[in-house]
Amino acid sequence: MTAISDVTDLRIEDGIAVLTLNSPPVNALSAKVRTGLFDGITAADANADAKAIVLICEGRTFIAGADITEFGGKGPSGASITDVQAAMQNAQKPVIAAIHGTALGGGLEIALCAHFRVAVPSARCGLPEVNLGLLPGAGGTQRLPRIVGVETALSMMTSGRHVPAAECLELGLVDELVEEGALRSGAIIFANKVLSEGRPLRKVDESNEKVEAARGKPEIFEKFRAGIARKTRGYLAPEYNIRCIEAAVNESFADGLATEGRLFLELMTGEQSAAQRYSFFAEREVWKIPDVARDTPQIPIERVGIVGAGTMGGGIAMNFANVGIAVTLVEREQEALTRGLGVVRANYERSAKRGRITEAEVEARMARLTGSLSIEDLADCDLAIEAVFENMKVKKEIFADFDRVMKPGSILATNTSALDIDEIASATKRPESVIGMHFFSPANVMRLVEVVRADHTSNEVIATSMALSKKIGKIAALVGVCHGFVGNRILGPRQAQANELLLEGAMPWDVDRVLFDFGFPMGPFAMSDLAGLDIGWSKETSKGETLRDVLCEMDRRGQKNGRGFYDYGADRSASPSREVEAIIRDFAARGGKELRTISDEEILERCVFPMINEGFKILAEGKAIRASDIDVIWTNGYGWPVYRGGPMFYGERAGLDVVLNRLRELQKTHGDAFAPAPLLEKMVAEGKTYRELGY
Ligand code: 3HC
Repeated sequence: MTAISDVTDLRIEDGIAVLTLNSPPVNALSAKVRTGLFDGITAADANADAKAIVLICEGRTFIAGADITEFGGKGPSGASITDVQAAMQNAQKPVIAAIHGTALGGGLEIALCAHFRVAVPSARCGLPEVNLGLLPGAGGTQRLPRIVGVETALSMMTSGRHVPAAECLELGLVDELVEEGALRSGAIIFANKVLSEGRPLRKVDESNEKVEAARGKPEIFEKFRAGIARKTRGYLAPEYNIRCIEAAVNESFADGLATEGRLFLELMTGEQSAAQRYSFFAEREVWKIPDVARDTPQIPIERVGIVGAGTMGGGIAMNFANVGIAVTLVEREQEALTRGLGVVRANYERSAKRGRITEAEVEARMARLTGSLSIEDLADCDLAIEAVFENMKVKKEIFADFDRVMKPGSILATNTSALDIDEIASATKRPESVIGMHFFSPANVMRLVEVVRADHTSNEVIATSMALSKKIGKIAALVGVCHGFVGNRILGPRQAQANELLLEGAMPWDVDRVLFDFGFPMGPFAMSDLAGLDIGWSKETSKGETLRDVLCEMDRRGQKNGRGFYDYGADRSASPSREVEAIIRDFAARGGKELRTISDEEILERCVFPMINEGFKILAEGKAIRASDIDVIWTNGYGWPVYRGGPMFYGERAGLDVVLNRLRELQKTHGDAFAPAPLLEKMVAEGKTYRELGY
């Protein structure tokens, strides 16, 4: 065995050179990896004892891509990815990439320059650069369509999907599957087969058939663009990926590479990719809790109890049933229980119809759900989640029941979105077992969970809740107890300003348009219409004090009755309502305010800057661990566009001094709702970043 570098070594086995890369955690293509690979391939090619070369990786995965931490730093050093690729392609002997785990991005682009690829069945391949606001910048945009064809390449590159090995085999992306757990020997056997059959050394660059088949058919691209337009609205990278594939079709390989290089650089130096790369790391950092050690013992969770089989409880139950955890769903009345279980089944049936799961899987998941009318049936659960309506008295009664019924050491969780969890915990004699698990609606779909740590919550309970959230495919952020926790607390000032803007002369559709154009899936008033204006409103007590009161009194209840802030057509299309406009003007006049024209810029600042300000208050109070956690919450739970990073990232990019100065101006004209948070003032005064101040 010859050590080529810190991260690569070369061994000749049965006349085959096996070049092994070992650079934890994911063998990303850092400078030392690139150089190690280049030197290794060159040495293997020069070694007279070796007739073929196998490239294989140690650890959990094949190369997972370029090293993202190097992006945006001081230019590349050492061998480039292109150098490694050229060494592979131009080797005088067959080069075989042996893939396990994931071959992603630059990793797959390296593998595409091997003459052959083998993989174990559990492996996956993909070009996920689009999710980082990028495109494959090492020839992937030109090589992938040459293997899998234009349509598949379009779909793979704009979704970033990790394609399972069996599908890769069908697509020709992988030449052979080898037995799970026997990649090394399987690859060597394959190499010997290539040699004995005298197979020619294939270079993807020279195979033009599939791209030529799409030449002169621009409609392929137009149709594809139309198909993804809604989903990718606002994002630059999907369109840039498409343009590169167009170049693969219409230009020579060399020119296509040049187009790819130019567009890659544009994306890489742009704001969107900076935000998306930041989000990538933020979503990994969010799991790290400074005072809860990684090896904190966890409570085994085999059965979960959920109280409340409404939309929320049912949705939460599905998350556990999906991953094989048994659930007991408790309701007070049989009718509500039957309805709740029926909704869950209907959701699963819909997934089956769309081909996402099989009918057998529907039954398997349903079989994990047991309905009950008695909280006593939760006695053998390891975790109970209360998911009833927001009423402190009711919640405390349920927690007193949990305390009485549940076995020692089990976790008692509440799904409250705003109430004081310390007070809820006071209904038990075991506050160390009490925690918040705030799911977002629809709970079976939305990725975010705010895990809420109360005063006495134990580290074991926190560690288990975080790990369990991960297991059910969520992204969890640990937050502290305060009104609305982090997400809803930040939503508050935005909503307040949106309402206030109406009283100053903006219309709901003006505010909604500005926030929609910013990248939110919908604005606050369209959102209110969707949720129903009459949630928490009562005809008996309504005094016409707020605009919402007035709208509800006029039976404008939202989408559900075709009239809310907007008028709705039979197809649910919204149009500005002249009646609402008159109501707003009348209501504003009653408050004595003079209406004025409000610019889009003001609408945006009025809505967004107070959110950033609230974020600073949250950080200062220690209710979020770090600024990036707030951003993870807002991108995953509230539709903040990932290409803008999140409110805290956005504030920093806009310039915290700019945000601060504007808040000061607004405070003068609009009062203390805009009073700058002391931490924001401190950060600007000291010229520090979040990280430098420990946030
Ligand atoms: N560069 C640098 N660090 C990376 C990385 C990368 N490409 N991919 C993962 N990491 C780091 C993570 O930050 C994490 O670090 P931490 O432990 O300090 O938090 C660690 O590796 C493990 O990552 P995960 O927690 O995500 O581990 P999983 O096992 O859950 O997932 C994975 C593994 C599927 C490989 C996932 O990490 C992933 O999707 N990585 C990104 C893949 C990607 O986007 N590749 C394309 C890069 S861009 C590119 O290649 C450009 C090229 O075209 C020129």
